Amino acid sequence: MVPLSRTTQLLPATDSAIAAGAAILRRGGLVALPTETVYGLGADAENVAAVQAMFAAKGRPADHPVIVHLAAAEQISLWARDIPAAAWQLAAAFWPGPMTLVLPRSPKAGDFVTGGLDTVGLRVPGHPAALALLRAFGGAIAAPSANRFGHVSPTTAEHVRDELSGFVDLILDGGPCQVGLESTIIDLSRGDPAILRPGGITADKVAAVLRGALGQRGAHSPRVSGSLESHYAPRATVELITRSELAIRAAQLAGQGHRVAVLARPGDLGELPAGVQAIILPAGDENLARELYAALRRVDELGCGVALATLPAETGLGVAIADRLRRAAGPRESV
Ligand code: TXA
Ligand code: MG
Repeated sequence: MVPLSRTTQLLPATDSAIAAGAAILRRGGLVALPTETVYGLGADAENVAAVQAMFAAKGRPADHPVIVHLAAAEQISLWARDIPAAAWQLAAAFWPGPMTLVLPRSPKAGDFVTGGLDTVGLRVPGHPAALALLRAFGGAIAAPSANRFGHVSPTTAEHVRDELSGFVDLILDGGPCQVGLESTIIDLSRGDPAILRPGGITADKVAAVLRGALGQRGAHSPRVSGSLESHYAPRATVELITRSELAIRAAQLAGQGHRVAVLARPGDLGELPAGVQAIILPAGDENLARELYAALRRVDELGCGVALATLPAETGLGVAIADRLRRAAGPRESV
């Protein structure tokens, strides 16, 4: 058994720290790594014990598949078979970057990585430290987001430390994540390509490359954890309401004795009732995506039991932002 209790080091992602990270992966340890989307909790994708320890650290059910991170697009031939032309087109357009391709798996992708599915999720991440770690390690890194199962994904090294200290050997600090939301997952394993999880690469951009049918599916598979109704959630209850209701609902909840946080864009808020905390979100979907998870964590840090939020317009990156907000607000008993 790989030990569950570990001494956690947090180091800036320098060359020597990356070399240390590669050595830890080689001996079956766990390394949290920065990616352009969110921080990942990495393990050697070919080491059963290491991947099982990673699942245990997250508190994640063993039948959930995990994304395999690669240093370069060519390596998908090692991990997948029957690779359609669309995969190479998408890889050329968006890798390294915030996109995961689901493809029929090769024998190299074990059940312990795919959760027993006959497909595997593959991604070449865009963060230079993630790529440097992959190159120094020489193999593939299985990495889910570096949070406890169901919780908000981490977008800074401190978020990872707060959540997984004692469960991971090394956290590489590569600064705040630039995209801030998880990768777009595209299923190329059956039928027409379909987006399983909206993310950093918008459906319009995917459709422009494919020049063909692009469906939506996925929210139905119970094994896709990002598709559970409640996910990406802070401890606080999240309520989604319209802009015009914000102040009234905040006053009502505060009147009932709740500590309330309001997540709002500048200009959304009039006068807030006493005791209600405003968490100001930046304007523009790219900025909002980058800061959304930190804002959800802030709700808990402020000790608020309820957060009120509004949905952005659901076009472009707004689709992924709205998806994550809905899941943060999803019914908890379904998890
Ligand atoms: O941006 C990201 O994708 C981040 C960074 C670290 O790369 N990773 C991430 O991993 O979000 P995770 O495990 O938190 O979410 C991965 C999602 C899960 O919902 C999982 O079920 C789905 O990908 N997934 C992985 N392999 C799959 C497969 N073969 N078929 C369908 N869904 C799959
Ligand atoms: Mg996750």
